Amino acid sequence: MDTLIKRAAEDIAAAKLVTALTGAGISTESGIPPFRGKGGLWERFDPMEVAHIDAFMQDPTRVWEILLKEMKTIVEAARPNDSHTGLTKLENLGKLSTIITQNVDGLHQVAGSTDVIEFHGNFASHRCLDCQKQYASHEVQITQIPPRCDCNGILRPNAVFFGELIPPEALRRSQKIATDCDLMLVLGTSAEVQPAAMMPVIAKDTGATIIEINPQSTALTGTVSDYLIKGKAGEVMNRIIAELEQIL
Ligand code: APR
Repeated sequence: MDTLIKRAAEDIAAAKLVTALTGAGISTESGIPPFRGKGGLWERFDPMEVAHIDAFMQDPTRVWEILLKEMKTIVEAARPNDSHTGLTKLENLGKLSTIITQNVDGLHQVAGSTDVIEFHGNFASHRCLDCQKQYASHEVQITQIPPRCDCNGILRPNAVFFGELIPPEALRRSQKIATDCDLMLVLGTSAEVQPAAMMPVIAKDTGATIIEINPQSTALTGTVSDYLIKGKAGEVMNRIIAELEQIL
């Protein structure tokens, strides 16, 4: 691992435009479960039954009951960890421009990152299905399920359900930064969900170096990524920052 940490710090120091793609793995150190693998949400629930827009529209009570109530509590209690603050430090060192995140927990922004593309929306706000009125998540009291708007419409999270399109501006900006960057850090994602998993491929095809940080290999390892640093994102980011501060 030492050699790869050094190599990553040197690659980042030499890079002109660095971006990062993040996934649920980086928030596990903040107490939010991942979706796949051991202890993943999809081990307990069928995502097509509880996280697909058709399932929500058919039975919002069930989806709120089973998934959303639990997610809301966990996400509201979570705090950034060293992987989030590590990316903020990288930005403060002038070595990271934009983060593309699949996470809906808003922890990058809480950690101080200033340019975060929420590829799958966020859980920090909800909207009314009828009048589209927006609510900050902490304003939404789960006194009834599903929670209701003042107009009595049903509230839904601003997170992207399966079966829904990626917000067009998020997709456009992500494809642009993936094309323009010369280094992409890929942290805590299994890279199994499209089109997010396409971003490292676009970056690779346009000449960027792809560095993965993950305790396990993924769909990108050995095909798209140049190298994988096997470890927890918080620890690895701390070590890369320490190395980088020596070089810069
Ligand atoms: N540090 C880094 N990586 C970690 C850590 C950690 N501490 N813990 C786990 N991981 C890795 C796992 O090895 C796995 O590869 O994080 C990855 C988590 O994968 P998923 O649970 O599939 O999460 P993600 O890739 O973000 O899922 C993509 O799928 O369910 C949908 O919309 C949801 O945004 C989500 C999308």
